[in-house]
Amino acid sequence: MTGSSASVPTITLNDGTAIPQLGFGVYLVPPEQTQRTVEQAFEVGYRHIDTAQMYRNEAEVGAAIAASGIAREDLYVTTKLNNGNHLPDDARRTFAESLAKLGLDHVDLFLIHWPLPTRYDGDFVTTWQTMVELGEGGGTTSVGVSNFEPAHLDRIIDETGVVPAVNQIEVNPYFANEAARAAGTRHGIATEAWAPIARGRIAKDPTIAEIADRVGRTPAQVTLRWHLQRGDIVFPKSTHRERMEENFALFDFELGDEDLAAISALDQGESGRTGPNPNTFDHMSR
Ligand SMILES: NC(=O)c1ccc[n+]([C@@H]2O[C@H](COP(=O)([O-])OP(=O)(O)OC[C@H]3O[C@@H](n4cnc5c(N)ncnc54)[C@H](OP(=O)(O)O)[C@@H]3O)[C@@H](O)[C@H]2O)c1
Repeated sequence: MTGSSASVPTITLNDGTAIPQLGFGVYLVPPEQTQRTVEQAFEVGYRHIDTAQMYRNEAEVGAAIAASGIAREDLYVTTKLNNGNHLPDDARRTFAESLAKLGLDHVDLFLIHWPLPTRYDGDFVTTWQTMVELGEGGGTTSVGVSNFEPAHLDRIIDETGVVPAVNQIEVNPYFANEAARAAGTRHGIATEAWAPIARGRIAKDPTIAEIADRVGRTPAQVTLRWHLQRGDIVFPKSTHRERMEENFALFDFELGDEDLAAISALDQGESGRTGPNPNTFDHMSR
């Protein structure tokens, strides 16, 4: 063990539950590599795993959980509803399948992966209502959304009166996504920052490199620390154990205000995105 969950702070969500501020993401971890990768992440000390129906590796995450012997209450597991599964019956059926693949009787957090405003006649409110019902059924402790723009958040809250616990959105130094973060703050929704190190692009950034050299850390550590000090939740992905350890060693240093501001100044707006725009993304995977 090179770390322990005790060193990871938690954030209290608007439903009163606590989420570890640092976790481990498994997007693009090939299924055949996922069990071993998640087992290594557990060895390093990660206790919060972020997967999705879309990633096709829930069963392998479940195998790693089963093999770990870690008490269920010491783990935080998130999965997400795939884009082809928004209709209520599909959402209910595939959520049960996700639980079975993960080998769990409940997840900690279930998210609508994408709002898909150009699909399902623009009706993501019914999808949100179904998520809320799944939460009431006990299969997930918290419910939230992902890739929701401010107008999408306003609409589901207006029409259902239920505020998501989190909004998982792309945030990194090149795409600060401030409007969506601010909408979250306004509603009391925690922000989870996906692609927190811009899929590795930050490793070659001269501004980040200068800060990293000066504080004796790596570019990834400095960037992840920037997220944590802004209050966001992160779960960097790596299939390399040394990087898992690097990305976990974040709690014995702090960045000063000037360094935080210098990283924030790298924002490129829309052109800084690594992923698609939620207003137009419409890929219907199941
Ligand atoms: N809700 C959504 O729509 C959505 C979308 C995307 C991602 N996510 C979630 O967010 C998680 C994180 O995002 P992400 O995986 O897209 O991107 P990321 O964590 O920003 O970057 C991962 C990439 O950076 C490399 N890397 C990891 N640690 C590094 C380090 N210390 N130095 C240099 N390079 C490093 C990894 O390579 P190696 O693996 O080769 O080390 C991988 O190519 C995902 O795994 C997923 O759980 C959600």
